[in-house]
Formats: sequence, C-alpha cells, structure tokens
Amino acid sequence: MTLPAAIKSDFPLLDQRFHGHQLVYLDSANTSQKPQVVIDAMADYYENANANVHRGSYELAVRATAALEGARAKVASFINARSSAEIVFTKNATESMNLLARSWAEANLSAGDAVVISEMEHHANIVPWHMLRAEKGIELRWIPIDGSGHLDLSDLDRLLDGAKLLSVTAMSNVLGTLNPIAQLSERAHAAGALMAVDASQYVPHVPTDVQALGADFLVFTGHKMLAPMGIGVLWARAELLDAMPPFLGGGEMILNVTKDGFTANEIPWKFEAGTPMVAEAVGLGRAIDYLSDLGMDNVRRHEVELTAYALRTLTERHGDKITIHGPTEPAERGGVMSFIYGDVHPHDVAQVLDQSGIAVRAGHHCAKPLMDVLNANATSRASLYVYNDKSDLDKLVDALSAVDDIFSF
Ligand code: ALA
Repeated sequence: MTLPAAIKSDFPLLDQRFHGHQLVYLDSANTSQKPQVVIDAMADYYENANANVHRGSYELAVRATAALEGARAKVASFINARSSAEIVFTKNATESMNLLARSWAEANLSAGDAVVISEMEHHANIVPWHMLRAEKGIELRWIPIDGSGHLDLSDLDRLLDGAKLLSVTAMSNVLGTLNPIAQLSERAHAAGALMAVDASQYVPHVPTDVQALGADFLVFTGHKMLAPMGIGVLWARAELLDAMPPFLGGGEMILNVTKDGFTANEIPWKFEAGTPMVAEAVGLGRAIDYLSDLGMDNVRRHEVELTAYALRTLTERHGDKITIHGPTEPAERGGVMSFIYGDVHPHDVAQVLDQSGIAVRAGHHCAKPLMDVLNANATSRASLYVYNDKSDLDKLVDALSAVDDIFSF
C-alpha cells in the first residue's frame, strides 16, 4: 500500500450517498475533490488574513501578501522552477495557454510561422492557435497518433522544420498517454523551436521537474490537484517572461502610469492585472503541502497500481464488450481510462453507473479532433486519484454488468 488506506476520510465530500449507494468518484481528470485541510486553509485565510495584496502598508495586508507569495514559492518548489518569479498565477490552464498565445506568440509569430501540436490535445491547446491562425495566418501542424494511443513521431523532423513552437500535452486527458516531453523538448530546440507543455493532467499525478523536462513553458491548473477552482499556473523561463509583453492591463501589473503611457511591473506581477485570487492560491499551497506529505512518487506508484488493476479487471470481466483507449502498459499512462461499452452510448453508460453511485464523465472531453481520429462522438471515462482504491474499481466493474443487463435485449 503506497498511500494511507484511510485517505478517503480526508475528503468530506466523498462521504455521501447517491441513489442509495456510497459515492464512488471516478472523474478526477475533470476536477479533483478537496481534502478538509485545503477547505480549512481557505476558511482560515478569510477568517484571519484577508486584505488586498501588494498595496496595503498595514499589518493585515502584509499578512495577505505573504500568504499569496508563500503559495507562489510552494508552487515554484513543487515543479522545481528556478525562482518564484517564473510562476504566473492565472485562473486556470486554459487562461495560461491563452496568455502564452496572446503574449509570447502574438509578439513572436508572423504569417506563415508554424506551431506544432498533436492530435491528442485538449481544446485549450488547440483553439488559441486556431484563433492566431485566423488573425495572423500562422500555420498549425499536427503530430498524428498511432493505433496504440502514442504519438507517432516518425515524421517529427519534417513537422518541426521551420516551426517556432511545439506545444504538446504531457498526459492525455482522454487516452492517459504519457508523452516523452524531455525528448520532445530536445527535438524542438534542435529545430530552433520553443517547447510548451500542457501539464494539466500531469502535475497532479507525476513528480514534475520543469528543468529536467527541458521545456520553455508549462501550464497547469489547481482544481485537478486537490486545490480550488479559479487558480492556474503558467510557468516559463524567466528570460522569456521578461521579454514577453503584458497580457491584461490594469492595476498591479504596472510600475508607473502617466498620461503618456505605462511601465510594466517586474515578473511575475507584470502578468497579474487586478486583484488576484489569494484564497485560491492559499488553497493551492495547502494542496501542494498535502501532496508533498503523501510523496509524489507514492502518488504515481498508487496510480500505476490502480490503473494496472483496472485494466486487468475490466478486461477480464467485460473483455467481450469493452474497448479501452490508450496504451495498454500502465507505466506508459496515467489513470485515465476512456472506454466504449459495446454499442451502448457513452452517456447511457454514465447514467446507468450513476444509479450505482459511480461518477464518470461521458462526452468528447474537450478533445474533438481526437474523437475524430478515434472515430467516436464520445467515450465514457473513469479517472483516478489519490482517494481511489481497488474497491472503487470493483464497484465499477460490477456496475458495468448492469449496463450489459439493461442494454443487451
Ligand atoms: N476538464 C477536462 C476533462 O475532463 C479537461 O478532461
């Protein structure tokens, strides 16, 4: 057992019943649940430290500023950034990716410049590039996936030829595939491109070292890693952030404003216009403490173990009906299992599972180009996190038999 067996009791929301059954939460790729310590840390902030930050000279404002900047330091250390100045707080990973597109890409890309992405991207790493394509005439190139749910890198040299940016997910939110980011960073740099990483599904589940990954930009969100919604992160190398123009204009992001113009603040505040989400940052900092106490190596080990168990038991019991997308090797993937059950619509599967108290997501998972490649409109998806255990997966496997009973007439 790599994580404490009693971990579920840290998450108050999990202790409830739906349709007469104990909740089995299998939708953590969508959003994670929050431990009591995170909820308490946010309440404590509002009870004892709330004031606006960076602008008050009184003691309470100093305390609030320290809470925000303390959380930033925890994020920097969690992903091994060189300094807190490289951590920009945003509202989510989507906003972080848009910041990258609207600031760095708008300043550095011209008509005809290429951005390379992959067929397994979330819309957050597709639509901002489509927007720049429409506005500036940039070219969008796609790395295909192979039949086993891995990136097909056989044509990567040609795709990277003359490209300015390679932007790829570290872990697919549909297939679970873990991509070889360090290798992709090297290939991008050798071709003269920068490397961006959508790490929304990765940072919560895998020990992350931005320096070892060799990337230039990396985005993730708090709510998938036990923290509240409304706080995300853009990490970038300091020299890149320094050179990038501001994204939003207003208070906080300036050093001076006159009738003639403004001078931008230093990084990271240059990118944080307006009052920031301090309580959410505090929640993220506490979530990082919680995950660090568990140990991210243990978090990953737990997930590999559970994923192996899920793939085995689902196949043993439902092998004639179920198709699970993505790599078959647990070590090559995260705990995200998208599946098709016979010819039953994925939404019907999710609804029948809900009758047993089991929460899974059904839909296109904000990855419609990937759905086209998979030749599917939707999948059902069970996704795991620290609070799941084998009994959750046993219940999923049992409840799928009900799907079989209901629809096999
Ligand atoms: N929330 C999105 C998902 O469920 C990203 O995968």
